[in-house]
Amino acid sequence: MRNSTTDLLQVDGLTVRYGAGPVVHGVSLAVESGTVAALLGANGAGKSSTLRAIAGLEPAKGTVRFDGQDVSGLSVAQRFKAGLVYVPEGRAIVTDLTVAENLTLGSYFVDGPTRARRRAMVLEFFPEIANRLKSPAGLLSGGEQQMLAIGRGLMSGPRLLLLDEPSLGLAPLLVARVYERLALIQKEQKLSALLVEQSFHTAAKLAARAWVMRHGHIVGELDAAALRSREGRQQAIDAYLGARRDPSAVVAA
Ligand SMILES: Nc1ncnc2c1ncn2[C@@H]1O[C@H](COP(=O)(O)OP(=O)(O)OP(=O)(O)O)[C@@H](O)[C@H]1O
Ligand SMILES: [Mg+2]
Repeated sequence: MRNSTTDLLQVDGLTVRYGAGPVVHGVSLAVESGTVAALLGANGAGKSSTLRAIAGLEPAKGTVRFDGQDVSGLSVAQRFKAGLVYVPEGRAIVTDLTVAENLTLGSYFVDGPTRARRRAMVLEFFPEIANRLKSPAGLLSGGEQQMLAIGRGLMSGPRLLLLDEPSLGLAPLLVARVYERLALIQKEQKLSALLVEQSFHTAAKLAARAWVMRHGHIVGELDAAALRSREGRQQAIDAYLGARRDPSAVVAA
């Protein structure tokens, strides 16, 4: 696999098993600093398990290197402190707490001025939630809840955001809005992220590189050019769906 000194995250041979057989088989991928990479695949492919294992939320075999350091043996809390921040799928916010309280949860360990600065930045990116700070988070719309979940992740000052299906359950218009903001954050804050998505078209707008996963295996890798070319897209979608073609044909170096 690619092995560059600019890689912020480097995952090698990651294997996750819950019971009998592994659901993630020897997955290797890397995310370059300041870029967004995507992990694509259908339901049950093993995307969330991969992301959760990188965050330390699932026991796994293999190596996770973050900023050159082997973090494989570190706890979730230690990885979080190092800046590896997981945003779970399904907008897991605390619905009984207010929007402001949810944001504070993301920055529990930082000093007041830092928290205020980050909050101002988050609210600038997501004006929809800026007007709702005192509302219980459960009253927000689906799109607003997703913005809050991402905002809470940003409050912790991530060096790499692990975003699990930010489009899940959202109407197309809201998906577009959430992705527009992510693109803005990427541009202005040089956000580094590993994004999980089922929708190739959604992720391709933001990602500089993508891996396609099927039945726990990486079956293809696409660079920026392949993500934006019609042929690359078609090859990825074929690999995704279980491919008539040879999955290795997806690799576009
Ligand atoms: N906690 C668990 N215990 C047992 N099996 C699990 C657990 N979590 C996931 N699995 C199984 O592991 C496989 C991969 O699941 P995973 O959630 O990683 O897929 P995914 O690609 O994120 O799917 P989706 O797009 O539906 O979110 C599935 O077969 C799933 O049923
Ligand atoms: Mg999932």
